[in-house]
Amino acid sequence: MTDKIGLFYGSTTCFTEIAAEKIQAQFPPGQVELFNIKDVPLKEAEQFDNLIFGLSTWDFGEIQEDWESRWDEISDLNLAGKVVALFGMGDQVGYTDWFQDALGMLHDELAASGATRIGFWPNQGYDFAASKALTPDGEFFVGLALDEDTQYDLSEERIQQWVAQLHQEYAEVS
Ligand SMILES: Cc1cc2nc3c(=O)[nH]c(=O)nc-3n(C[C@H](O)[C@H](O)[C@H](O)COP(=O)(O)O)c2cc1C
Repeated sequence: MTDKIGLFYGSTTCFTEIAAEKIQAQFPPGQVELFNIKDVPLKEAEQFDNLIFGLSTWDFGEIQEDWESRWDEISDLNLAGKVVALFGMGDQVGYTDWFQDALGMLHDELAASGATRIGFWPNQGYDFAASKALTPDGEFFVGLALDEDTQYDLSEERIQQWVAQLHQEYAEVS
C-alpha cells in the first residue's frame, strides 16, 4: 500500500501527538501526513482514501478537547469507500473504569460515515475494569490502545505490530 494516509489527531499534553509521529515513522517517508485537528477542520480528511484518527480520553471518560470541539463535524463527513483505523491514548490504572472510552465514542460516531474500519486490536496485556472501546464480544479494542502512563515500555512494540497489521488489512480490503 503506497497511497497517502492522512493521520488526524487531537492531543492535550502531546502524548497522542508523539504516538502519531511514531506511527508515521513506521511508514515510508512522506506516506503519512499528520494533521493536528486543533488547527485543521475534519473535512480535510475527505481528501484521503486512507485515514488514521487518534485521540485521548480525559476527565473520566470524556473526549479529548479538540475532538470535542469538532465532534459535530463528524456527522458531516463522507467517508464512503475510505479505509479508517483508530488509535487511542488512556491510563488503565488511574482511570480503570473509563479506559479508552473516547476511542469507543469515536468509533460509534463514525458508524454512519460509510468508512471501512480496520485496525482492531486484541485486549490482552491490559488490566482495567471497564472500557467503551471494546467490541461487543469484549475481545478487541476498536483501535490500537496505547497507555503511555502505565505501559510506556510497550508502546513502541505495539505500534510496530499494529502498523504491520494495517499493511495486511490494507491488502485485504483493496
Ligand atoms: C485529568 C486527567 C484525566 C484523564 N482521564 C482519563 C480517562 O477517563 N480515561 C483514560 O483512559 N485515560 C485518562 N487520562 C489519561 C490520558 O488519556 C493520557 O494521559 C493520555 O496519554 C493523554 O494524551 P494527550 O496528552 O495526547 O491528550 C486522563 C489523564 C488526566 C491527566
